[in-house]
Amino acid sequence: MNLPITVTGAFGYSGSRIARRLLEHGHTVRTLTNSPGHGHPLANHIHAAPFHFEAPDELTRSLEGTAVLINTYWVRFDHRRFNHATAVQNTLTLFAAAKRAGVPRIVHVSITNPEEGSPLPYFHGKGRLERALRESGIPHTILRPAVLFGDGDILINNIAWALRHLPCFGVFGDGKYKLQPIHVEDFAALAVREATTTGDRTIEAIGPETFTYRELARTVGQIIGCPRPVFGVPPWFGYAAARLVGWWHRDEFVTREEIAGLMQNRLYVDAPPAGATRLTDWATHNAATLGRSYANELARRQPTLPTPV
Ligand SMILES: NC(=O)c1ccc[n+]([C@@H]2O[C@H](COP(=O)([O-])OP(=O)(O)OC[C@H]3O[C@@H](n4cnc5c(N)ncnc54)[C@H](OP(=O)(O)O)[C@@H]3O)[C@@H](O)[C@H]2O)c1
Repeated sequence: MNLPITVTGAFGYSGSRIARRLLEHGHTVRTLTNSPGHGHPLANHIHAAPFHFEAPDELTRSLEGTAVLINTYWVRFDHRRFNHATAVQNTLTLFAAAKRAGVPRIVHVSITNPEEGSPLPYFHGKGRLERALRESGIPHTILRPAVLFGDGDILINNIAWALRHLPCFGVFGDGKYKLQPIHVEDFAALAVREATTTGDRTIEAIGPETFTYRELARTVGQIIGCPRPVFGVPPWFGYAAARLVGWWHRDEFVTREEIAGLMQNRLYVDAPPAGATRLTDWATHNAATLGRSYANELARRQPTLPTPV
């Protein structure tokens, strides 16, 4: 079966894995993206168009003929160049355009524990969008990953980077809040599977291992050969240290809201795993390279920005 499928951000982190799998399954892939994809290995195989959030008719035209829209679009944190409120508005525009274009199915990427009532913009925005998708009447799957890991990830890589470069590792508060990372390829396989099913469902896209944040730091440290002392620090102190790292790299290492989300246990759900790859196995396999260089979110958004290594 060859379906025309649109993946937002097909040159991005999860989007590129999803797009590659769709191509391998014989589907035709288009993308809506902020990135031109020059030099990307998939660039010659995918028709790319800009998002055109500011021109909904054009966005609608880009989606005509699409059998499934797989939406990864989002922003990680509020910044002077982008923010969650705009990302929510843009995604609502995208859903409305998909409806007008007659797109029969949407696979939408959310996060564990979204909540419209949350004061945290990430979780509030994701909650708002889940409701909008349900109310749209478009058949859909909502995928809720906690944390993605794999080649090119940011969080696990940068924990490893910190363990390599610092004599000790501070966790925010008691560090007992939990995370359930899923491998990006398992996540992509899930998205591809859900693209070709029917009906509405919501899937907690979590991996087979659950770690407390403290255990995660300890485990990654041992695996990469940097078993640092791990101790609790007041969240404000951890944030100040993260600001320093971010300042050095011209990035946001971790934001106050991300720390709050972690500490509220929002990256943990009581559900069966949806992915099989164990972070410990993957990290062991990649121990020599994991965290060797810092993964810079802002540099990804502005490729010309020079970054210290
Ligand atoms: N990564 C994780 O650990 C994680 C954890 C939980 C949930 N999620 C969810 O998974 C989805 C995909 O995550 P990902 O890490 O694979 O994302 P990504 O590749 O970094 O970005 C996905 C899409 O959003 C666009 N985008 C990202 N940041 C942007 C910004 N600042 N300004 C404008 N556009 C921006 C990208 O633009 P381009 O078209 O230019 O690439 C791409 O279209 C997101 O919905 C995210 O909320 C991710």
